[in-house]
Amino acid sequence: MESKKIVVGNMKMNLLAGDISEYLRKINSSNLGEQVVICPSNIYVPYFLKQSYKVGVQNLFFRDSGAYTGEISAAQVASLGVKYAIVGHSERRGYFRESDQDINKKVVVTLKYGLEVILCIGETAEEKNLLKTARVLKRQILNALRNLEETDFDHIVIAYEPVWAIGTNVTPTNKDIMDTISYIKGIVSEYFHYEDIPVIYGGSVSEKNIKELNSIPNVSGFLVGGASTDAKKFLKIVEVAVKK
Ligand code: PGA
Repeated sequence: MESKKIVVGNMKMNLLAGDISEYLRKINSSNLGEQVVICPSNIYVPYFLKQSYKVGVQNLFFRDSGAYTGEISAAQVASLGVKYAIVGHSERRGYFRESDQDINKKVVVTLKYGLEVILCIGETAEEKNLLKTARVLKRQILNALRNLEETDFDHIVIAYEPVWAIGTNVTPTNKDIMDTISYIKGIVSEYFHYEDIPVIYGGSVSEKNIKELNSIPNVSGFLVGGASTDAKKFLKIVEVAVKK
């Protein structure tokens, strides 16, 4: 179980070209290994690929190709040698108004081109306060995973990211994360007959709390935002989560 954990670094829209060179220099000596995926801004993707890191994109568009200025397709991403795509991040859902339907189309096209999907789901603070967490997660899962083949599920990791925990230095208790992961696995098993889908946790994962979070028995890894942009912090997280 332990050895299958993955750590995904979501750098979001951070770091300048010079920072990336510096970052690569810092992580270069420390062979990150097979279980770490780095998702930099798209323009930096080739730098990481060149050094043989496992790379993911933070988003892609659901059309195969065409006149969609500023977008990138799953086909293009796959043609470069990228292996993962984050789909449905709460910042995409929120700031860019991505609907459950858009996210489903992105999941489908990502799988079509042979990429692994990291599907983000999570409730907002308001939904949590209204006790709607279970309902929201269920809706997000059922909609995102429509129209898939049975074998597609082997290529999906779900990232549970409570929106209120992202970038806030606040995390749910280990017990709450564990219960929510069980719930998510249960939904996928009940509605799609797929057992034990891997679920990773994201939201204020840091070099300070990784030891504690890593003790959650059913967590399959972590999606790290802010802390992934600092090589030293990210290496510490990787060390604890996957390099035991
Ligand atoms: P954070 O972001 O680690 O900065 O909270 C996580 C994410 O948005 O994936």
